[in-house]
Amino acid sequence: MKNVYDNKTFFELYKNHRSESVNRNNLIENPIMKSLLPNLTDKCVLDLGCGDGKFDRFLIENGARCVVGVDISKNMIADAKKNNKERCFDYYVLDMEKLDTFEGEYDVIVSSLAFHYVKDFDKLLKDIYNLLTEDGILIFSQESPFKTAIIFDGKEQKNKIEIDGKIYYLLSDYQTEGERKVIWNKTEVTKYHRTYASLVNSLINNNFKIVKVLDSYASEEAIKENENYKKENDRPIFTFFIAKKNSL
Ligand SMILES: C[S@@+](CC[C@H](N)C(=O)[O-])C[C@H]1O[C@@H](n2cnc3c(N)ncnc32)[C@H](O)[C@@H]1O
Repeated sequence: MKNVYDNKTFFELYKNHRSESVNRNNLIENPIMKSLLPNLTDKCVLDLGCGDGKFDRFLIENGARCVVGVDISKNMIADAKKNNKERCFDYYVLDMEKLDTFEGEYDVIVSSLAFHYVKDFDKLLKDIYNLLTEDGILIFSQESPFKTAIIFDGKEQKNKIEIDGKIYYLLSDYQTEGERKVIWNKTEVTKYHRTYASLVNSLINNNFKIVKVLDSYASEEAIKENENYKKENDRPIFTFFIAKKNSL
């Protein structure tokens, strides 16, 4: 996997975007992710693609005994260590495509907006399965298949059209799974498109019981902060899964 988060321009632009209080992470993804968490009292949590670790602080403040974060980016892990210095936090630079080299046992594994960077979702799920306790839970968000689907092929990235004053989002290439190259933060970023059916079947085939699936939505509070977020309810940009390990 190409690690764009250690590219200087990309990282600076990404950090600027994340430091704004009104963004889709703070107003849409994060509140939904928080609402999906189980009781964390005394639980040990692994955060895959933990970024700067701000979510990990929330996990500890809500009862978790320990949080281990892994991220492919040295920049991100340096920030996570700066943000979370207490002994209940532990951070590692690691490509989650190599999660089979990682050890430990976790009650809960979380991941926010990172799985669409991983090429082999089945391998990732196998590795996650092995790191979960007997009744362990996986909770993750990723870009919605409705968003990852379009192949832009170097063309101008326009994902919507206006007809008679109404905005319509475009959907194409849905059944063609695999690599997608998009320009984001002035950088070519590689992501992977998988259909909803594939995501569900991978979870089932890797011995997970799906407990909940959610499409992102803009809450009234989000829309109050930014009127444009109304459009988020026409086409979800994130998808969320809660899956429980089926013990063999
Ligand atoms: C959109 S950011 C989200 C960060 C954090 N989870 C959050 O919500 O603030 C995606 C993160 O996934 C990490 N990432 C991408 N591919 C990865 C991989 N193969 N292994 C580990 N981390 C990865 C990136 O470095 C980045 O920190």
